[in-house]
Amino acid sequence: MKSICIISGTDRPGSMALKIANYLAPLYEAQGVSASVVSMEDFPLEEAIGGKYGKKLPLIEAFREKVIDADGIVMVIPEYNGSFPGILKLFIDYLPFPDAFQKKPIAFIGEAAGAFGGLRAVEQMQMICAYRNAHLYPERVFLQRVKSVFSEEEGITDETLSELLHSQVKGFAQFVNRIEDKQPA
Ligand SMILES: Cc1cc2nc3c(=O)[nH]c(=O)nc-3n(C[C@H](O)[C@H](O)[C@H](O)COP(=O)(O)O)c2cc1C
Repeated sequence: MKSICIISGTDRPGSMALKIANYLAPLYEAQGVSASVVSMEDFPLEEAIGGKYGKKLPLIEAFREKVIDADGIVMVIPEYNGSFPGILKLFIDYLPFPDAFQKKPIAFIGEAAGAFGGLRAVEQMQMICAYRNAHLYPERVFLQRVKSVFSEEEGITDETLSELLHSQVKGFAQFVNRIEDKQPA
């Protein structure tokens, strides 16, 4: 069975991103792929202080394992100041370079308080993932005015957005299943 890692792209306590990531996991399981959630809230920031790139960092290595091992990644990305949260870039900078996203299928969900639903944040992240040779899943979903279209209790309450999200889940699960298995290094 293929595996998907759903990244909640912020360390903000109580974030919508984490609630959405947790909502997505059983939807992926229902499509026959195993799904785990990794929250940037749990990134061991203390180990990165001082810019320890290239050093032995056991906490960060353990944290990033699920993402590296997954057959596919779903990024749930809130918009902060017209971009994605800084913690997400820091996390990516602590992944193995240059191969962490090589041929890795990645799907994107943007969410924001504003009217564009994290479009800017997602497009900037797509640029990074494309640079790192990921396979970008083309169907993206943007949750505008996120608190009025999603809640932990009810899930997605907007019919059109719900259709788009379920279509992305189904399509991305198929996409991951069709990508050839990773070759051992
Ligand atoms: C530091 C910060 C910057 C933000 N900047 C934006 C922004 O540029 N555009 C926007 O629509 N919402 C912005 N927001 C609001 C978020 O979109 C809102 O908190 C939303 O719930 C998604 O973030 P969350 O996953 O942290 O809950 C910002 C929130 C924070 C904490």
